[in-house]
Amino acid sequence: MATLSVFITAFVLVSATNICLAKEFIVGDESGWTKGYDYKAWAKDKVFNVGDKLVFHYPVGAHNVFKVNATGFQNCITSPTDQALTTGNDIVFLATPGKKWYICGVGLHCESGGQKLAIAVQFPQVAPSPSPSC
Ligand SMILES: *[C@@H]1O[C@H](CO)[C@@H](O)[C@H](O)[C@H]1NC(C)=O
Repeated sequence: MATLSVFITAFVLVSATNICLAKEFIVGDESGWTKGYDYKAWAKDKVFNVGDKLVFHYPVGAHNVFKVNATGFQNCITSPTDQALTTGNDIVFLATPGKKWYICGVGLHCESGGQKLAIAVQFPQVAPSPSPSC
């Protein structure tokens, strides 16, 4: 039994650690969400897990954030039904795995400013058990 409880303890610790390690990514780091930044390079070496967050920092009114599909990303199209994030400190919770696309809908920031971000979200290596305590 001792072996079993050690195993369970280790498992619980790993699970809890995993949840607590949910990361918050400041998009563009200190540059924030802006024109003329290479978000492809920014995202390249990062691992985005379900449970992590993206934070878009920018001066209110200067930019916004639209979540779009692959087509919208390629062609910088936002549909009127899309909800833009506009607070300047927009937090996006990555709740599901898969590809996610975000663009700025102001002026030509996406088209000519390259203000667009594509990421792939994956499940964490060890699936966390739901735990409201963390
Ligand atoms: C992508 O989004 C656009 C605009 O919101 C929509 O018209 C189009 O049907 C979508 N395409 C796919 C493949 O979902």
